[in-house]
Amino acid sequence: MKTPLMSQSVPAAVTLRPYRRSDLQAIVELDRICFFPPFRFSKQSMSEFVQARNAISLVACGDGTTRVIGFVIIHLAAHSDGIHGYVVTLDVNPAYTGCRIGSKLLDRGERDAARAGATRMDLHVHTENTGAIAFYDKQHYQPENRLESFYGLGRDAFSYSKSLERPDTL
Ligand SMILES: CC(C)(COP(=O)(O)OP(=O)(O)OC[C@H]1O[C@@H](n2cnc3c(N)ncnc32)[C@H](O)[C@@H]1OP(=O)(O)O)[C@@H](O)C(=O)NCCC(=O)NCCS
Repeated sequence: MKTPLMSQSVPAAVTLRPYRRSDLQAIVELDRICFFPPFRFSKQSMSEFVQARNAISLVACGDGTTRVIGFVIIHLAAHSDGIHGYVVTLDVNPAYTGCRIGSKLLDRGERDAARAGATRMDLHVHTENTGAIAFYDKQHYQPENRLESFYGLGRDAFSYSKSLERPDTL
């Protein structure tokens, strides 16, 4: 295993499972640790995102405990060229940065999206979020456009996308 980027502790085992309603407070708190306003979501918005009918919501727990140390929310939507997944948010506790929890969550989310019919994954990332940009590059996402003031005046986003493998090859 490579040396983690900034982690204070490497979890011995990471378990991924579907989101449960009882995880809501934990993921809201994690989002507050990971993002400053205006990039973080309110509890109400987070609740709506995770419970949406088109949502794939996964959490990561560490060291055999129930403590949530990461989560991803993906929404599926029909487009003219088929179903796309969209990464609403992906958050990993900074104490575990570089421990491959983000990769595990995104891989599983991509697989679940492909099994649900998605052929491609889309996302937006703040142009100054260099860590996430480096991460998505490593996950083979391709940059597409720069969207001015996507996150509010003067806060631009890059759009990224990735073709998903057919589910019969997964
Ligand atoms: C971005 C984020 C999800 C990455 O999760 P992670 O668990 O730390 O990432 P991983 O350990 O799976 O890293 C996978 C690869 O990306 C690279 N990477 C991850 N974070 C990086 C960073 N901050 N700087 C440079 N490279 C980074 C890793 O080095 C690793 O590369 P390798 O395959 O050569 O070893 C996590 O840092 C995070 O939650 N950040 C805050 C919230 C955020 O910005 N979310 C994304 C926007 S929606």
